[in-house]
Formats: sequence, C-alpha cells, structure tokens
Amino acid sequence: MLLNITDLHLAFHTGDERASILHGVSLMVAPGELVGLVGESGSGKSTTIRAALRLYGDEAEITGAIDVDGTDMIAADAVTQRQVRASTVALIQQDPRAALNPVRRIGDSLAERLVKVHGMRRPDADQRILSLLTDVGLSHPERRMRQYPHELSGGMLQRVVIAAALSTDPKLILADESTSALDVTTQAEIIAMFQRQIRERGLGMLFITHDLHLAAAICDRIHVLRQGEIVETLHRPDMFRTAQHPYTRVLVDSAPALTRKGTV
Ligand SMILES: Nc1ncnc2c1ncn2[C@@H]1O[C@H](COP(=O)(O)OP(=O)(O)OP(=O)(O)O)[C@@H](O)[C@H]1O
Ligand SMILES: [Mg+2]
Repeated sequence: MLLNITDLHLAFHTGDERASILHGVSLMVAPGELVGLVGESGSGKSTTIRAALRLYGDEAEITGAIDVDGTDMIAADAVTQRQVRASTVALIQQDPRAALNPVRRIGDSLAERLVKVHGMRRPDADQRILSLLTDVGLSHPERRMRQYPHELSGGMLQRVVIAAALSTDPKLILADESTSALDVTTQAEIIAMFQRQIRERGLGMLFITHDLHLAAAICDRIHVLRQGEIVETLHRPDMFRTAQHPYTRVLVDSAPALTRKGTV
C-alpha cells in the first residue's frame, strides 16, 4: 500500500485553545489507484494530507496510524520522514506560491532538487524540467525557467508545481486542488497526464477537490469528508446511485454545471 491512514485524529493547539479537526479518518491508496478526497472548504482535506506527511510541528496533536509505502510516519524520525517526502511522495500544494522559493528562478528551484536528491547532472535536470514544463502546457517554458515566481500567474504556477511533482517520478502524488485554477481544457490535459502515469507506471494518487462530479469522472473511489469525518465512500461504477448520505446528495446537486456533464 502506498498510503494507509487509519483512524487519524488531529487537534491544533493555539495558545490555550484546542481545536479538534480530524475525527478518525481512514483511507488507502494502492499502486495504480486514483482515489478522491472530496469535501467542502474547511472539512479537513489539506490537514489530512499534511498530517500524513508529518508537516506539522508541536501545534498539531496526532493519533492514529500513518503508513507511507512501508514507512510508519508516526514512529519515524525527522530524517526518515524527510526522505519519504523527498523521494517517495510528491505533494502538490493547494497554494503553488507557498511551494516555490520566491527569490529563486523557477528553473533553479526545480532542477536543484533533481541534482541534490536524485543525483542528476544539472544539464540533464534542466532538460527534464524543460520537457515537463512543455508537457503541462506552460507557454514559453524556456523563458519561464529563468523567471521568478512573482512574474507568473496563478495558473502558470500551478502548472510549474505539477511539473515539479512529476519530475522526481514519485510513487505517490497527493494533489491538493491542483487543477482547480486551470481552464477546463488544460485541466483535462493534466488529468490525462496523471492517468497515463497511473496506468503505465503504477503511480498512486490522492486527488483532493471540492468538485464531486470531477472526482466521479476520474476516480476509482471517492471518500467524502465532512467536518473531519469520512461520511461516505463511493465506488465505481454508479458512484452517485449508491450515494446514501444526505451531505453527499447535497454535493451531487451543488456541482458546477461545466463538469456536471462529464466535460473532463
Ligand atoms: N495550522 C492550523 N492551525 C489551526 N487550525 C488550522 C490549521 N490548519 C487548518 N486549520 C483548521 O482546520 C480546519 C480544516 O482546514 P483544511 O485546510 O484542512 O480544510 P480544507 O478541507 O482543505 O478546506 P479548503 O477546501 O478551503 O482548502 C479549518 O477549520 C482550519 O481553520
Ligand atoms: Mg485545503
């Protein structure tokens, strides 16, 4: 199993306050699987995956079991956790700006990781980044590599972080609203790229979105998260026919019209 989260509870401590956010979340992603995590804003989607990668410090109180490709992320020391994050998993963060160093050129940020962590020669790393930036549909990719994050639009940066995620050939991608800011055509192209990697090299993917209809069009299985609890899991085929929970029905009825007809 690439990702196995069992009975995850999480509470944030801020000053004297304790806010309980996740209440027993369990989910799995196997190689070759595309699993959806869907829920409204604030339901705990980003918190779930950030906790799974142990990206929180003392402010988060975590219980439960988290296994990433055989590593017990609760028991692992900080060095091991970092290794897992660097080589096994790619997190595509919801805010692409937060993922990129603002004072480094795009090309340097992306290529350096391939040099440092994966031992690639710099010219090879540059070639790989250029080819991936082209694949994700970034205009003028060579020029973009010399630019800084603030010189690119939100949609362009989103493509950059998707290229960065694919560059290290991860076994597992955690994609947090990673195609939400893109136009429908680009979104479809990028999802097709993900699907190709899932099919061809057994990539596992957890696809986070608030768009249940998009998730239903592409995922093998969908977990519906509400206020820190998975209230329903939908399976192919006929995901919506089997939807029981009233909250899932609300999501089914409230999806944007563009994806409703299965445009993607
Ligand atoms: N570092 C933090 N400290 C305290 N509370 C936090 C922290 N991060 C998130 N929260 C709270 O946890 C809850 C879940 O937030 P989270 O970001 O996981 O939601 P989400 O489902 O990803 O929403 P969105 O769709 O808007 O991205 C929210 O109430 C949020 O305020
Ligand atoms: Mg989020």
